Amino acid sequence: MERLAIYPGSFDPVTNGHVDIVERGLKLFDRIIVAVLLNPSKQFLFSVEERLEMLRDSLKKFTTVETDSFDGLLVNFAKEKNARAILKGMRAVSDFEHEFQMALMNRRMNREIQTVFLMTGFRWIFTSSSIIKEVARFGGDVSGMVPLIVNQKLKQKYGYGS
Ligand code: PNS
Repeated sequence: MERLAIYPGSFDPVTNGHVDIVERGLKLFDRIIVAVLLNPSKQFLFSVEERLEMLRDSLKKFTTVETDSFDGLLVNFAKEKNARAILKGMRAVSDFEHEFQMALMNRRMNREIQTVFLMTGFRWIFTSSSIIKEVARFGGDVSGMVPLIVNQKLKQKYGYGS
């Protein structure tokens, strides 16, 4: 059976930390679907289409990685895709409590699907989409922390790019 994992998130926008998790995940899984949650109740900087476009561009070198979007429960999406795992990145301790809670709830809903946490690379421990946006919004340099396309899109979005 193919080892397929779903890597879910908001990806608003994708960072080098996310790309690092995909790369590490590919050492364990045959295929990964990076899935953007359609969540109308949350305020995002980028539209789903923009987030998917940035993901596609940032992950194009990985031939066994796909991008998709989903709404509703993650475990239902994973089951529909025949995935055996949910892939999550773990940074500092601050991530732990919420991630643990979600993993246990997902397991309660579907015992066939395992959540696999991978430690992000040390250099990305303090990288998050929120902090990237905060810095980029005021013209700070985030190159090297996000894929090239994301850096460009952030500049356009905040009105100082070409
Ligand atoms: O990048 P984020 O915002 O931390 O991603 C959160 C995400 C999308 C992984 C989480 O909100 C999620 O799985 N949402 C889908 C709805 C669901 O299944 N909720 C129950 C999990 S306990």
